[in-house]
Amino acid sequence: MCGIVGYIGDKDTKEILLRGLEKLEYRGYDSAGIAVLNDEGVHVFKEKGRIAALREIVDPASEGSIGIGHTRWATHGVPNRVNAHPHQSSTSRFTLVHNGVIENYEQLKREFLSGHEFISETDTEVIVQMIEKFTEEGLSVEEAFRKALQQLKGSYAIALLDKQDQDTIYVAKNKSPLLVGVGEDCNVVASDAMAMLQVTDQFLELMDKEMVIVTKESTTIKDLDGNVIARQPYTAEIDASDIEKGTYPHYMLKEIDEQPFVIRKIIQNYQDESGKLKLDESIRKAMKEADRLYIVASGTSYHAGLIGKQFIEKMAKIPVEVHIGSEFAYNMPLLSENPLFIFISQSGETADSRAVLVQIKKLGYKALTITNVPGSTLSREADFTLPLYAGPEIAVASTKAYTAQLAVLAILAVDVAQSKGITLEFNPLKELAIVANAMETMCDSKEEMTKIADEYLSAHRNSFFLGRGVDFYVCLEGALKLKEISYIQAEGFAGGELKHGPIALIETDTPVVALATQENVNLSIRGNVKEVVARGANPCIISMKGLEAEGDRFVIPAVHELLAPLVSVVPLQLISYYAALHRGCDVDKPRNLAKSVTVE
Ligand code: F6R
Repeated sequence: MCGIVGYIGDKDTKEILLRGLEKLEYRGYDSAGIAVLNDEGVHVFKEKGRIAALREIVDPASEGSIGIGHTRWATHGVPNRVNAHPHQSSTSRFTLVHNGVIENYEQLKREFLSGHEFISETDTEVIVQMIEKFTEEGLSVEEAFRKALQQLKGSYAIALLDKQDQDTIYVAKNKSPLLVGVGEDCNVVASDAMAMLQVTDQFLELMDKEMVIVTKESTTIKDLDGNVIARQPYTAEIDASDIEKGTYPHYMLKEIDEQPFVIRKIIQNYQDESGKLKLDESIRKAMKEADRLYIVASGTSYHAGLIGKQFIEKMAKIPVEVHIGSEFAYNMPLLSENPLFIFISQSGETADSRAVLVQIKKLGYKALTITNVPGSTLSREADFTLPLYAGPEIAVASTKAYTAQLAVLAILAVDVAQSKGITLEFNPLKELAIVANAMETMCDSKEEMTKIADEYLSAHRNSFFLGRGVDFYVCLEGALKLKEISYIQAEGFAGGELKHGPIALIETDTPVVALATQENVNLSIRGNVKEVVARGANPCIISMKGLEAEGDRFVIPAVHELLAPLVSVVPLQLISYYAALHRGCDVDKPRNLAKSVTVE
């Protein structure tokens, strides 16, 4: 979702801003802009569409040693040049970029800016106009900035330039992610460390309702009452090569291929020298003390949660409920007496989950976050974190983070089971090693996956994914993958539910992908496939070695049944990738989607 960058220093400001925005492209956006300040004034360039289009309109002569930039994912107002950020105050003294949603902007317009003419349809413009108004009333810029922030309800990450001051970027954050980077002879601002690794790997975390005065030499964090807050920078441990595509045509394909490596990394990081599971004792204790677990997540992470419930209930014998973050936030279910909350999130920034975390913290409950970004908001604000070790995931469609979530959930379930004294015929580290090998075989089957994509999906408008038990949950994920990147309508159904409605949609040649990796439902899912075939469907059965039958289109290598989702999802990821590719879609940056959904 929207991304912010800022730079103050002696290097080529516009190039650093543009490169920073390119690194934020993965978050999803539909317009972009930068502002560079120099002796002649502020030079603002904005464009609808990709950063490449913005690059073309940036005047190469607009030098400056201070600037801000933004990628916008439209919330208030259509994506066009006028609504793109940066936005300016009426006299152009102030220039501002904002990420988030100002919930009370209409009220602020009425209260502080009546009679004022607004150029854009955005909620953002109200902030920059208020700041100008407050300075006109006699406040210093810092005071005006703080006063404006005190009026805002909602989420924001903000960077502000003052035409009369080439030495300062004013920065603030509430609920939306923002970091300040500390460089040599320069300082930077970024929604995500990846954007500014080109300049520094030293970053200052910002808490909600903090502001920062960033100059070339200093970074001063203050609360909204003006009190100075001391904080040391941390080192962002991201390998710059992790965020490059290398020889791959798309990040998604690279990330699918990285899955065996990620699983091996998880095995390494979650075992001690003697080869036993290694989990923080406090997490174990919190899990054991809970009478019920509440998994909260969205999208792909929610699908991982559904399978995590199976792991935990089957092995650790703790009841689990799985909830969609945005639903839980407004319809909290009746909670058990001693709940523990588990937030699953690749980015650790998903606003829907964060809203739940804030609520349950107020109620005094404990939370564990399973995330790929340990310094993220959901990680910082939870009591415990389990990292995914998947490395940066850039493609909008989540792949390696999903399988990493499943692996970590399996480890968590087994560890807690063992510490409760439950004997399991299941060694997760050994079984995960088998999974990593099986994933490798799957990644080597790309030619076959290309064919399957063409045979069944590429030319169709809609498709179905059928499964039972955990296969059903993998089908939900497979259908999500396909629809989000290829725009083919795809729905995942539990096999048994078909005759309760969805079978009405089956016509001649309707593609139906069915998974058969679970012995106890192997015959019944095959029965469901017969039902759709009788109505003309074109079935593509993907089964697991040992359960295969004549006519299956692809057989995945055998792994422990519980862990089958980690492998059976790989062909679904690959056929989605190839279907999208063959349809000419922008695989890594599908329309309308954002990688990090930081607004509710
Ligand atoms: C789909 C996808 C999304 C995310 C969802 C939650 O491929 O990536 O459905 O899973 O937006 O994001 P995180 O996991 O960052 O909380």
